[in-house]
Amino acid sequence: MSRRDTPPEELTETEASAELATLAEEITAADIAYHQNDAPEITDAEYDALRRRNTAIEALFPHLKREDSPSEASPGAAPAAGFAKSRHGTPMLSLDNAFGADEFLEFTKTIRRFLKLGDDAVLRFVGEPKIDGLSVNLTYEHGKFVRGATRGDGTIGEDITRNLETLPETYLPRTLKAPFPDQIEIRGEVFMTKADFIAFRDEQARLAEEREQRRERGEKVGPEIRIPANPRNAAAGSLRQLDPEVTAKRPLKMFAYAQGASSTPVAETHSDYLKALERWGFHVNPLSKVLPDEHAAEAFQDSIGTQRASLDYDIDGVVYKLDRLDWQTRLGFVGRTPRWAIAWKFPAEQATTVLLEIQIQVGRTGALTPRAVMQPVNVGGVMVQHATLHNEDEIARKDIRIGDTVVLQRAGDVIPQIVSVVLEKRPKDAAPWQPLTHCPACGSHAVRPEGEVVRRCTGGLICPAQTVERLKHFVSRNAMDIEGLGEENIIALHDAGIVKSPADIFRLEKRADEIRQWEGWGKASKKDSKKLSNLLAAIEGRRNPALERFIFALGIRRIGAQNAKLLARHYQTVEHWRERMIAARVIGSEAREELGSIQGIGPSIATELVEFFQEPRNLAALDDLLSEVKPEQAESFGDGTSPFAGKVVVFTGTLERSSRDEAEAIADRLGAKVTKSVSKKTDFVVVGADAGSKAKKAAELGVRTLTEAEWREMASLG
Ligand code: IVH
Repeated sequence: MSRRDTPPEELTETEASAELATLAEEITAADIAYHQNDAPEITDAEYDALRRRNTAIEALFPHLKREDSPSEASPGAAPAAGFAKSRHGTPMLSLDNAFGADEFLEFTKTIRRFLKLGDDAVLRFVGEPKIDGLSVNLTYEHGKFVRGATRGDGTIGEDITRNLETLPETYLPRTLKAPFPDQIEIRGEVFMTKADFIAFRDEQARLAEEREQRRERGEKVGPEIRIPANPRNAAAGSLRQLDPEVTAKRPLKMFAYAQGASSTPVAETHSDYLKALERWGFHVNPLSKVLPDEHAAEAFQDSIGTQRASLDYDIDGVVYKLDRLDWQTRLGFVGRTPRWAIAWKFPAEQATTVLLEIQIQVGRTGALTPRAVMQPVNVGGVMVQHATLHNEDEIARKDIRIGDTVVLQRAGDVIPQIVSVVLEKRPKDAAPWQPLTHCPACGSHAVRPEGEVVRRCTGGLICPAQTVERLKHFVSRNAMDIEGLGEENIIALHDAGIVKSPADIFRLEKRADEIRQWEGWGKASKKDSKKLSNLLAAIEGRRNPALERFIFALGIRRIGAQNAKLLARHYQTVEHWRERMIAARVIGSEAREELGSIQGIGPSIATELVEFFQEPRNLAALDDLLSEVKPEQAESFGDGTSPFAGKVVVFTGTLERSSRDEAEAIADRLGAKVTKSVSKKTDFVVVGADAGSKAKKAAELGVRTLTEAEWREMASLG
């Protein structure tokens, strides 16, 4: 085992390869903890050290660079380091909350007592909608924007200047319009509008799905894509990007609402200060209003509350600030909250209702997502009858059962969620919810791979929810490569019920007359009729695909082009492959072992393959397809004259002259079948230095062993 303190140049190939594997794993885990869970498990310095070591080893052993090398991950996805710290000129405070008119009145009484004001003194307030976003502190020097920071712990925040500079000038002026104090801090809330959020969330969901499809095809994928739960999350995530170019693509806006440190006073009242903010070029919330006295607050609260649902951004209350700044100064703070301001919050948007059903939606990639169907109920002015349940773990964690009375909440004003269950109201016969064993769209087995949260339909080839995606993959360039069958045409043929499975594509000719009647396909114009005849010709030209293309085209999870090639080379003919896959369904069978021992096909990939073949509907679809197409026999490697051609070879121990991976690849090219374990079927065991049990087993079984020199000699490697 190599140790992290061994200088990379002193590592042997075996050690380097093993270390690259663990590094890939550790870096991925750190990326997930940081980006996905927002809960880093290692420090930035430790993370940087891991990446540096990975790069150093890769530079010395370029041929050992892994498919999933972290150095290939998309730029900007992984943090190079965190943000610099930035100390605020004056602390960024939080606000006390009031829930209702009584608490607000209490707040005003405290002010009167503190300032020793009589009942006849007038308390003028400014009411401002309380935006649910992220507060920032902007520093201007001589009218120029020089620094921007998050709130952090109130005293020290993160320096996010580069990210803030991506906001439109109209929201964050780079230069203030004169006159202005030499030094001034301006505070405001960065947010995403509801409409922008929904578009952004949907786009993220689409990207996540595309990523999943690539992953399924065994292609390289970047880091996990996060789907934000609400506009606040989306704004926070956007501002915390380490790559400002990512932030630049996010539609962020800002309302300015307060001052921090200032070299000279700006105004005598808060309302005048807001006017200064506008003069300098900031947006101040247009609903902000000067209230002549404290009694006007209640009506203002109601009025903003009524407008809440129709506003384009999330608010969770109204902030009331005493207008006179001299009074603000006298009042000062208790702990971290000012005595001169309060946040009057809206009542929580919660409601209770009965859970009628848990529906399962099948995504385009076969992901099964539970969704709650409830008795419709009004939550904060919006009728709600569906709520997302995320995944089955969440249902189990909250122990949500059909028939339960549930507490619903609109999170961040947009997506309803079930917060909890009212246990006292649970019907006696309510049983814990059981995840589906079969896909509701096609009836195929639904499985949840170990370590994943999502359950999936295994009926890839036949599941109607997935058909269009599967067909698109089936005809794509690296798969069957059928030209003229773009997404639009597939959808048209699918919706007309003509193409429901891959095999149907090869029966298209039989429906040609019917298709010709369609607009854009028919005899009406020469061009149109050519379109169909070209397509039919393209289809005919693909009746004898290379076996590896054929296997890849089936769209079996984790069987990308590379793995398909390995399978094709190993099994040679589609008949043989099919037969061995069926046999491999039995755990512990020889065929299962053979599959798992193919160089490059690990046990988890083997499991996916077997799951595909375990589903009778997939087998039926495959056979149907095979009645239409005849894949070619895969080329065998080597010219058959090598003493290793057709032989089963195992490498063990450390080789001196090449890496084990390289030696295995050479044997593979010479037509050998390289396996990992020694059995009676093994023809040769090539024994390197420090070989362990495999050499011993070979001796026990009487399998021929070769030294490295003998192997090189027989392989004509010199
Ligand atoms: S004034 C001392 N005004 O609410 C006054 N805050 O709990 C400090 N917020 O961290 C803040 N809209 O993120 C103020 N119009 C507004 C606000 C507002 C939203 C947020 C802000 C702050 C939190 C205070």
